Amino acid sequence: MTTRIEPGAAAHAADAPATAVPALPADFLWGVATSAYQIEGAAFEDGRTASIWDTFCRVPGAVFEGHNGDVACDHYHRMPEDVELIAGLGVDAYRFSLSWPRIQPGGSGAANTRGLAFYDRLVDELLARDILPWVTLYHWDLPQELEDAGGWPARDTAHRFADFAGLAMGALGDRVRWWTTLNEPWCSAVLGYETGRHAPGRTDPADAMAAVHHLLLGHGLAAQRLRATAPGPIQVGITLNTAHALPATDARADREAARRADGLGTRIYTDPLVLGSYPADVVDDLGARGLRLPVQDGDLAVIAQPLDFLGVNYYTSHVFSGSDEQGRELVDGLPVTRQVPQGLPVTAMDWEITPDGLTDLLVRLGRDYPGLPIYVTENGAAFDDRPGPDGEVDDPDRTAYYARHLDAVAAARAAGADVRGYFAWSLLDNFEWGYGYEKRFGIVHVDYATQRRTPKQSAHWYRDTIRRTRAGD
Ligand code: FCB
Repeated sequence: MTTRIEPGAAAHAADAPATAVPALPADFLWGVATSAYQIEGAAFEDGRTASIWDTFCRVPGAVFEGHNGDVACDHYHRMPEDVELIAGLGVDAYRFSLSWPRIQPGGSGAANTRGLAFYDRLVDELLARDILPWVTLYHWDLPQELEDAGGWPARDTAHRFADFAGLAMGALGDRVRWWTTLNEPWCSAVLGYETGRHAPGRTDPADAMAAVHHLLLGHGLAAQRLRATAPGPIQVGITLNTAHALPATDARADREAARRADGLGTRIYTDPLVLGSYPADVVDDLGARGLRLPVQDGDLAVIAQPLDFLGVNYYTSHVFSGSDEQGRELVDGLPVTRQVPQGLPVTAMDWEITPDGLTDLLVRLGRDYPGLPIYVTENGAAFDDRPGPDGEVDDPDRTAYYARHLDAVAAARAAGADVRGYFAWSLLDNFEWGYGYEKRFGIVHVDYATQRRTPKQSAHWYRDTIRRTRAGD
């Protein structure tokens, strides 16, 4: 079904020398990542109820060609085959998320034993193959009932999330040690409640800021619950899509624009999580727009639970200007923050390929938040690859992307960043949110008509790179 390739043979992009392996230590943690709604399908089986994504997919125009996650990669029914694929890559860990409405239909009350049974089997299958299960509690599939009750802008959702964390720990805590509370709260808050491009599709900046705070509060409450109920030692962290923001020039307006973007993209999360306070400049910027974070007494202490690790998802970096195309620094009385494309090569998402930004980001996080081990919990690229006549998927652009970003991780380590592992996004082509099945991030190709899986050449390259790095080749 797949062609064996010689080690490194797929890394034929100009800047990824064919024989190079990244300068990473033998005990570096290697993984692949997915999320529940993007791969599981079985959307209404075994007691699962609707999440905000099931609802959003049915809003005309919300998702590319009306695609939805009803079937996705049918992973719910093909899980053992998919675990075989993971094992074939030789990775140490598999990062997956739990579907909240599968485990706790409706978002409150008792656990659904049929839903839990799926994750029970998944964890056992992984452990039987010596693969570490790395659980994400929340990768965006809020039970619809909780959205109907106010969603993340409502404070109570944070408490519901802690209850869900307790149910998950109760069922899986005897075997799962690595727990991530949230995946990319920026996306949940800003894309979900301000731009409306993600579920639930609301467009109110005040709701988005309330969501930021309640997601962070939910993280803190869940971290407390996980630690209070864990039967043994666990590692608790959070995954952020921290932005690396650079000013277009050294001009004051551009530096200010980069500061604002960094504040709302990164520091509004990392500061309360690690330092226990929201950044004063961000609070001021929000105040100028009539926005506030609904902080109550004691919240910041809850949010700043000790973190065992920080997960970083990285795809691209951005350069910012403080003036618009007409040179105006203020529009409607507010300062301009404009993203400026750099004319670099892009992926199928139109995201510029910026591996140096990953090095800079990791070094900066290590410097500003010392003592916090970092794992790159997602990195990868969509390209329009198609199987050739022989059924093989030759994806040199993706391989080059991985090679360059792994080198960037090695460079960050050499510069002092405590980066301990890396997860490729994604194991499978899958439901890419608003882009539906149109964008393919997998290192394994999925033919959605037949559900046939074919490892792409990048998967072979990844496997060989892991093997060779471990061997110190
Ligand atoms: C991240 C998401 C992940 C996937 C990648 C491409 O923001 O966490 O689910 O969509 O982007």
